[in-house]
Amino acid sequence: MIAHPSADLAGQDTADVRAFFEQWAIYRKIVDLDYLHHGGAYAAVGRALSQIDRPFSFLDLGAGDADCTSRVLLGKPLASYQAVDLSETALQLARKHTAALGCSVRCTRGDFFDSVKAMRETFDVAFIGLSLHHLAAAGKRAFLPALRRIVSPGGRLIVYEPIRDPGESRDEVLARWWRHVESTWTALEPEELAKSKEHVFGNDYPEPLADYFELMESAGFPSAKVLYTDPQNLYAVIEADA
Ligand SMILES: C[S@@+](CC[C@H](N)C(=O)[O-])C[C@H]1O[C@@H](n2cnc3c(N)ncnc32)[C@H](O)[C@@H]1O
Repeated sequence: MIAHPSADLAGQDTADVRAFFEQWAIYRKIVDLDYLHHGGAYAAVGRALSQIDRPFSFLDLGAGDADCTSRVLLGKPLASYQAVDLSETALQLARKHTAALGCSVRCTRGDFFDSVKAMRETFDVAFIGLSLHHLAAAGKRAFLPALRRIVSPGGRLIVYEPIRDPGESRDEVLARWWRHVESTWTALEPEELAKSKEHVFGNDYPEPLADYFELMESAGFPSAKVLYTDPQNLYAVIEADA
């Protein structure tokens, strides 16, 4: 029997959506329990945005469901909001969460490393929340100049990303992260913990703050500052001015 192409596609879509929700459910649980310090990190992002006194355009790379970004953007003088994410399922949620922002909203499916390179417009604020660290240092060094090109003069890049201590290796920080997680993420089921560990050990490349500053400066951002670090020094929000 010859399978109809659309049946294959539908099957694939369903599998993708299910896989996404299985992972997303864990991620939402982690966010809701504030295990990644979204509360403190996004409060810092909100304070930085409050200092912008004119309408601004906002680019949300790796936006996910845009739940936290839409909360901090609500009530700000927003000219436009654009999200880029690999997952159409996440973007469907992002469209719902950003519906009340009262500005033009565009949610685009794609790999933001490619999307940014192809962009012709510029943004007053480019934001990356917990997605840049999937690139190792050389990849970040290659990507940041492309990001600099799409930040308007006088604009800013804000990143919320995992970090490591000065002199600490990737292996050491991941081991330190896991010791912290094992003792404090007590509301997760063992399988959820195992999936979180597998994801982080397979994908995360945290950098020291000083390395982030150097990478940003090399990319053409003249100055950068830390807006937030969590109590364990595992996550930071950094703002770089264009
Ligand atoms: C850990 S979640 C972060 C979501 C949200 N920004 C936050 O701060 O909670 C990472 C999101 O980035 C997306 N993502 C990861 N790498 C990406 C890439 N290269 N291009 C586009 N989206 C990406 C994933 O699909 C996921 O929705």
